[in-house]
Amino acid sequence: MQLQQWETAGRSSGRWIFDWMLPKLKPKYFLLSVDQLSRGWSRNKAREVPSRRSNLSRGSCSLHMDGNTQSLPKKEVALVTGGNKGIGLEICKQLASSGVMVVLTARDEKRGIEAVGALGALGLSNVVFHQLEVSDPSSAARSADFIKDKFGKLDILVNNAGIDGAKTEVGNPETFWHELTSNDPVERLEWIRKRTMEPYEKAEECLRTNYHGIKSVTKALLPLLLSSSHGRIVNMSSRYGLLRFFSGEELKQELSNIDDLSEERLDELSELFLKDFKDGQLKPRGWPTDGGYSAYRVSKALMNAYSRILAKEHPSLCINCVHPGYVQTDMNFQNGDLTVEEGARGPLMMALLPKGGMTGAYIHCTEVSSFV
Ligand SMILES: NC(=O)c1ccc[n+]([C@@H]2O[C@H](COP(=O)([O-])OP(=O)(O)OC[C@H]3O[C@@H](n4cnc5c(N)ncnc54)[C@H](OP(=O)(O)O)[C@@H]3O)[C@@H](O)[C@H]2O)c1
Repeated sequence: MQLQQWETAGRSSGRWIFDWMLPKLKPKYFLLSVDQLSRGWSRNKAREVPSRRSNLSRGSCSLHMDGNTQSLPKKEVALVTGGNKGIGLEICKQLASSGVMVVLTARDEKRGIEAVGALGALGLSNVVFHQLEVSDPSSAARSADFIKDKFGKLDILVNNAGIDGAKTEVGNPETFWHELTSNDPVERLEWIRKRTMEPYEKAEECLRTNYHGIKSVTKALLPLLLSSSHGRIVNMSSRYGLLRFFSGEELKQELSNIDDLSEERLDELSELFLKDFKDGQLKPRGWPTDGGYSAYRVSKALMNAYSRILAKEHPSLCINCVHPGYVQTDMNFQNGDLTVEEGARGPLMMALLPKGGMTGAYIHCTEVSSFV
């Protein structure tokens, strides 16, 4: 008879569940909905997603009555932030297709569950949902508890969630879309940029999400990644975060000199940027201003530097930054020149790196490139 393993508290204390017991299980043991259920979902609601429940409740391993746990296949576990749409959703889809157990996270529960459902409809049952608002450290801590309880380890973290820190005036949506589709991509980008403003609140939110958010999610999950035999972190960067866009030589030097940089200094620079933003001092200080999206550029540059510091501190992990290319997603009103499948290639390469693979690198699409 086949048994099913359900890991509840680390690799050593797996819970074994007979197939016939599944209908009798308390809802909290249904992996897909465990988080929702703990926050009030009804068991009936869980039954609305039978394919996910039955597949997910099979856990990641199985064995026969002899109980030989040595022969269990050890499925890798990945967590992807902002997995409900865009490049993040594509990464979840492809990781799951590769046989990885995927924790698709989203800040919005409904959008996240719908995304898991869409992947389930494609036959990808090894995807579970967990709510994660990256800018809230307590949400990151809850995600870490969830992973620890259910899997006992994390092999891959994809810090994908991000915002552009700007507000685009759409006006009349019909005209907006008409004009967007009637010009070439470069003209369209310029057209979008002209209608884009960068209010302070958006800049602040951008730093909180793209820089501080990645840091708090990483910190919460780091012990679990270190307990994997081959932990990997993929940080979704952007070409906009390259140091060449900083006009100030001093800032550029400081951010390139990783040996002398600390996380505390990066936090100070984040504060300094917001102060300069408020005081109208971005250009005099040498922050990136040409081409707009200053907060976005700075958030990604700080994130790149943080990744490099972390890669030095934890040589056993593979920690890399990836610019996915200019990809058709909601972030750019679907104006990119790559599909999400194409944009996900680099991040997936880094997520599926073999043990001992590169670390501390910047990848432009699928090529190793420079942080400058
Ligand atoms: N598209 C490009 O051309 C491009 C180029 C370079 C880099 N990137 C980077 O690629 C990553 C993915 O972007 P995308 O193009 O796929 O954009 P997208 O379609 O707008 O997706 C962004 C995702 O991040 C989530 N998110 C935003 N703020 C969050 C928060 N505070 N907590 C949790 N999730 C949050 C969004 O959730 P909601 O649905 O709830 O908003 C969404 O799932 C970003 O880091 C972006 O900077 C994209």
